[in-house]
This record gives sequence, C-alpha cells and structure tokens, in this order.
Amino acid sequence: MSKEIVLSGIRSTGNLHLGNYYGALRNFVRMQDDYDCNFFIADLHALTTNPDPKQLHASVKQILAEYLAAGLDPEKATIFIQSDVPEIAEMYLLLNMHVGIGELMRTTSFKDKARKALGIGPAAAGEDDEDAFEKQIIGAETNKRVNAGLLTYPTLMAVDILIQRAQWVPVGKDQEQHLELTRRFARRFNSFYGVEYFAEPQNFVFGTAPVKVPGLDGSGKMGKSEGNCIYLVDDPKVLRKKVMRAVTDQGPQEPNSPVTEPIANLFTLLELTSTPEVVKHFRDAYADCSIRYGDLKKQLAEDILAVTTPIRERINDILADEDYLRSVVRRGAEKARERASKTLADVRRIMGIRGF
Ligand code: TRP
Repeated sequence: MSKEIVLSGIRSTGNLHLGNYYGALRNFVRMQDDYDCNFFIADLHALTTNPDPKQLHASVKQILAEYLAAGLDPEKATIFIQSDVPEIAEMYLLLNMHVGIGELMRTTSFKDKARKALGIGPAAAGEDDEDAFEKQIIGAETNKRVNAGLLTYPTLMAVDILIQRAQWVPVGKDQEQHLELTRRFARRFNSFYGVEYFAEPQNFVFGTAPVKVPGLDGSGKMGKSEGNCIYLVDDPKVLRKKVMRAVTDQGPQEPNSPVTEPIANLFTLLELTSTPEVVKHFRDAYADCSIRYGDLKKQLAEDILAVTTPIRERINDILADEDYLRSVVRRGAEKARERASKTLADVRRIMGIRGF
C-alpha cells in the first residue's frame, strides 16, 4: 500500500527557534516512517520580502542544516529546496489564471505584509478601512510598493502542495487561511475543467492539540518577528542570558494565587523541556509562595540547553560538510521533480496546452 503524502515547508528567513522545533519539526521527525514525507525550504517565498542576495543562500543552507540536525532523515523523507524544482514556477503561472486578485487582497497575511511594506500600522480592531487600504496599495501616493509576489504568495503555496499531490499539510494556525485557499483553488480548477484531478489537502494536527510555544516577553507565542525567541543555535551564554531576562511579575502574594501569563509561559517552557518532578517542584513553590524566579529561570535555561546543545552541535558539523549537503539537496530535488513534472504535464494537458 502506498503511503499518504505529507508536505510542509518553511521560509528561509532566520534561524529555527524552539517554537519551530516543538510546533513543527519534532512532529515532522515522528511522521517520517509512516508517511511519504516531503519537507522543503521555501526560498522563493522568502523572495517576496526581498532578502539580500548575499544572504539568501546562507539562509537556505542554515535551515537545511537545522532540519537535518533536528532529525529529518533524507533516507526516509524527501528534503528539497523549492527553487530546485522549476516545475513549481511554471505551475504557479498556470494556476494564477484561476486566482482572483480580490481574494488574494483579502488574505490576512497579505494585508499584514502589505501594511508593513507601506509603513502603515495594523488596523484597529473593528476598524473598517478596507477601501482606504486598497487605495493606498493601488494608488501612487508613496514611493513604497507592495510587490505582486506578496499578493500571489498563496498561489505559490497552493502550487507547492498541489504539485506534490499532498493529502496532509502540517502547518500552524497562521497558515490555515492559505490552506483554505489551496482547497478553493483545487476545487475551482477541477470544476472549471470538469475533472476530478486535485484532492483537497487537509491540515495535519499531530496528537490532540497543537503545542503553542510561548516567547520570553511575557505574552504571546514565540515568533521571529516578535524578537522573543530562543534559537536552536543560541550558544549557552546567549541562551542563559535570554532566559534570565525573561519577563516575570512581582511573585505570588498569597498561597494558591492564580498564575499570571508571563509565569504561565515559563511553566509551559519548563513542561516542554523538563521532567515532571522539576515542574511539580516549582508549581508547589509557586503555590506556597516560596518560589524564586531566579531559580526557576536557571533550571529552565539548563533544561532547554539539554535539548538544544546536541542539535546545535550537529548543526555545526553538518554545515561544515558541503558534500553531504549537496548530496541531500540533489537527491531531494530529483525525487520532488519526479512527481512535480508528472503533475505539471497533467495540468498542461488539462488546460489545453499541447505540442505540435
Ligand atoms: N507559508 C508557509 C509559512 O510561512 C511556508 C510554506 C510555503 C508552506 N509553502 C508551503 C507550508 C507549503 C506548507 C506547505 O510558514
């Protein structure tokens, strides 16, 4: 029996952090035996925010090494670089013929990124400034611009998924709207051409509930743009400093007080990285007001280091082995292109593109 196809990607911007590790990578590693896994580095998506060309390759290489160090296994999964699969670029052009600019402009991630590009702040809750926003994008009141790649980001992501005929796409909540659009584009393609070609891919939630890894700044989740991250590559000194500086509160004033958000976040991190006994120790200390946040943080830093140190060491070894990295991506590209070229040939035929 052939295995179900899983696909997920990560943009090559910035290093992987604990949120990526617990939220995504660790699950990818667990899926490798049971599914036909395809994990890739979305460097074309990274181009939508115009990274420095001098750094693009280094970022791709870094994430690749981090993927491998965290346990993705090229013997089991197809690991590839998006730009190594030119079929994706061609199908992106073709699929765009069935995508509406209106629906793309209404996508949350587009609105957020377009605002950033134009230097306008986020819309206040309940504020209905859609018209003004659209005028700013279309009008030429500023010399800033929102590039078309940003607008068509969801098309490219849909192609990543559909070209590999993936059934399962493990992604976080922030990507659900993109996945919804992918399903819509798949349905639209099928109905326009009167075919049953694309199946509708689903999000894959590992276990019962997705893990939300909090940041160190007291509220919200860990994220690159939040500046509250612990990176897998952080060396012990940097990591300890970050944890010791994590936001706390004045401490429980009476026994059995409710835990405030910044402290709950530290407990969540402790639960992810520490033993149940250690967690219980600090929970009890919180309950009877004997807790010292400095001790909690010291413990937390060491427990996080126990997780990240072996990974960091592997990252550095892998980065030094250019031949290995080259062989991984070559093999990955070959496998990814095999399925992609078959899908592309079908799509061209269905759309009526024929040779003479
Ligand atoms: N947009 C995703 C992110 O920012 C990355 C991505 C690109 C992706 N193509 C994909 C994820 C296809 C899953 C499947 O996280």
